[in-house]
Amino acid sequence: MQLLTDNLLDYQHNGKILSISDVVFPDKPEQLPPRNMPRRSFETAAGKAAFFHALAHIEFVAIYLAWDIIYRFRDLPIEFYQQWLRIADEEAQHFSLIRNHLLSLGIDYGDLPAHSGLWTHAVETCDDVLDRLAIIPRFMEARGLDVTPVMIDKLDSMSDKHGVEILTRIYQDEIGHVECGSYWFKLIAAQRGLDSEQLYKNIIAKHFKSKPKGPFNREVRIIAGFTTHEIDWLEEGIYE
Ligand SMILES: [Fe+2]
Ligand SMILES: [Fe+2]
Repeated sequence: MQLLTDNLLDYQHNGKILSISDVVFPDKPEQLPPRNMPRRSFETAAGKAAFFHALAHIEFVAIYLAWDIIYRFRDLPIEFYQQWLRIADEEAQHFSLIRNHLLSLGIDYGDLPAHSGLWTHAVETCDDVLDRLAIIPRFMEARGLDVTPVMIDKLDSMSDKHGVEILTRIYQDEIGHVECGSYWFKLIAAQRGLDSEQLYKNIIAKHFKSKPKGPFNREVRIIAGFTTHEIDWLEEGIYE
């Protein structure tokens, strides 16, 4: 508590931005590197619970991500902060919806280990809002737009009506999150005199050894602010 008070005073007096390494997560779930995560079949009850646990963790970290972008990057227009406040609220709603579904499956958030990858990307992009926008909304959340319809179909085939409803709601909101990321990425890049398409490619190439494998949800990515050139470039599969 003393440390928290000191930090708050420090912030109030100096406007200093605390290091991202000061961010603290709850003791549970245990966070493991992606390669150490147990693999389970989606078809079993345990596998389905593990799937929703993984989604709960993504949403939990997404709450942190929305607050971190508000906290860390200063001197942007007020609309930037207003939009990320709305996103933080939506991520909290997503987490609650999934946590309640998880409870109906017999486990709670924190009962299983969770994947540490998403926060690692936050740490890697803490120095520049353009890196953060390219990697979090315009890469990680955009991947969600590609894969969520497939998950919805899968849950539908398993007659998980409530799971389908939750993922459909989240999918609609996430289109807005990526759209918001695209809007600010392009705007801030233009203000710095940078070509946003080229910058996007450079940032992705800097952070990932290889591009994500498709298929890409072209129609929805366009709605969310991707250009056809950016999607074509992702579909090419390899860095030129
Ligand atoms: Fe979300
Ligand atoms: Fe989101």
